[in-house]
Amino acid sequence: MVIYVEKNIIHLSEIDSTNRYLKALAMQGEGEGTAVVADRQTAGRGRLGRSFYSLHNGLYMSILLRPEESFDFLLITAAAGVAVVRAIEALTGFKCGIKWVNDIIFKGKKLCGILAEGIFDTEKNKLSCAVLGIGVNISESEGKFPDEIKDIACSLFGKNEPDKDFKLRLADRIFEEFFLIYENIRDKKFLEDYRKYSVLTGKDIYYFSGGKKHFAKVLGIDDNAGLIILEDNTEKVISSGEVTVRERRV
Ligand code: BTN
Repeated sequence: MVIYVEKNIIHLSEIDSTNRYLKALAMQGEGEGTAVVADRQTAGRGRLGRSFYSLHNGLYMSILLRPEESFDFLLITAAAGVAVVRAIEALTGFKCGIKWVNDIIFKGKKLCGILAEGIFDTEKNKLSCAVLGIGVNISESEGKFPDEIKDIACSLFGKNEPDKDFKLRLADRIFEEFFLIYENIRDKKFLEDYRKYSVLTGKDIYYFSGGKKHFAKVLGIDDNAGLIILEDNTEKVISSGEVTVRERRV
């Protein structure tokens, strides 16, 4: 059910997935900057074909982008990460970090996931737009995380509830912070903050590639938002996939 439309943000009470919903609008010609915000998702989509567990009390939003130049999903996702961290700090004072490439970390656990998806125009044989999806866990007052993720996921306010209009203020602020970066995304200035927020720099990690587990140390973030690592004494950059921090044994 549509509750209201303000600016170009459509607010829904419940939807299967805001990314899916906005993709359907995009195919009907909806313009850049249209956003969808939902209180609940019944089939949230995650990265790497996974589902995204959506608490009852969350902020689920998707923003439609029609970049004129190339689609750089890594940069767009990284920009969204910086926008979310800045927006949360501005509204709550809480400081979050970013785990490359797109997880927002609060008190050592995942608070928010980001998924950018493209729509391919088969007639023009090119991508026509991108839908940027952001899911922030706001509060566990109306439910809790399932056992599989309860040790790695968290919400902003735990069992407490924020003010009634907090979610929409946060959605608005994320939207504004994102477009401030996106307008000049090519200057890549936002990467300075991305590097500051990165929780992986200096950490020992592993990742899977070519059916093999690789061990490496994270050196930093390059100018395309790739992860710079040191593996077998060689510097490399990873531009996709997922890495996991290696726990130290004592
Ligand atoms: C991830 O961490 O795997 C990415 C999760 C992205 C979730 C958001 S919630 C709003 C938008 N709609 C979806 O179906 N997914 C994204």
